[in-house]
Amino acid sequence: MKTPQKLKGQAAIITGGDSGIGRAVAIALAEAGAKVLVNFAHNHDAAYEVVKIIKDTGGKAFAHQCDVSKEDEVKAMFATAIKKYGTVDILVNNAGLQKDSKFVDMTLEQWNTVISINLTGQFLCSREAAKEFIKRGMVKKRSAAAGKIICMSSVHEIIPWAGHVNYAASKGGVSMFMKSIAQELAPHQIRVVGIAPGAIQTPINKPAWETPAALNKLLDLIPYNRIGQPGDVGKLAAWLASDDADYITGTTIFVDGGMALYPGFADNG
Ligand code: BGC
Repeated sequence: MKTPQKLKGQAAIITGGDSGIGRAVAIALAEAGAKVLVNFAHNHDAAYEVVKIIKDTGGKAFAHQCDVSKEDEVKAMFATAIKKYGTVDILVNNAGLQKDSKFVDMTLEQWNTVISINLTGQFLCSREAAKEFIKRGMVKKRSAAAGKIICMSSVHEIIPWAGHVNYAASKGGVSMFMKSIAQELAPHQIRVVGIAPGAIQTPINKPAWETPAALNKLLDLIPYNRIGQPGDVGKLAAWLASDDADYITGTTIFVDGGMALYPGFADNG
């Protein structure tokens, strides 16, 4: 069955759209009718593969390289999207990475890299998106909102994570960043929402699922008893960007099979 075209004619930017969750989000938004800029930082071939998948199924997409932590590159990315598609209706702040280390051994570079991409990147991209949304205003035939920003967070916006303090701090920051700009932008009819994925089977957490023993250990943390798939998040992002979610702003939806439910307490406490 063909996906309903709930994002028809809307232009979307998906940062880190070349792999993992971002790839699934780019494909899901395109399936719902959006024209998609697939952003990538380094992996040109992977981004072009996502573009090809979208085009092969009749969608519109192009790939664009940009390091989301660089202000000039982010500005250039938005200018390119606006030149190509006329405007931007949806931003998915998805680009993110991990640089794991024991706390006492963590270098300033590991800290700064994660904060720059995961948090500052969301600031730079959201600011450009908000400026364009406010300048353009609402276009009723396209969407009930004047623009939508989706901030990819993680269960680690609330679950502390030893050995990953830079990552957990960046996601805690994303949560408060998302809520604060949602409050500021709501009067402009701009919606801002968060998605907090749990363990989704992607390259970022391969060591946690690549062997049966690792996967079994991981499943102890997931009451629903299966690892998440990128499509679980893609479908949610397409729905949140659509008018079906028009009264939702400033909140985070967890897509985690119950990981954030303190599973250790199921038979303890
Ligand atoms: C991390 C993954 C991890 C998951 C659950 C995600 O945000 O990027 O590496 O498996 O959270 O802990």
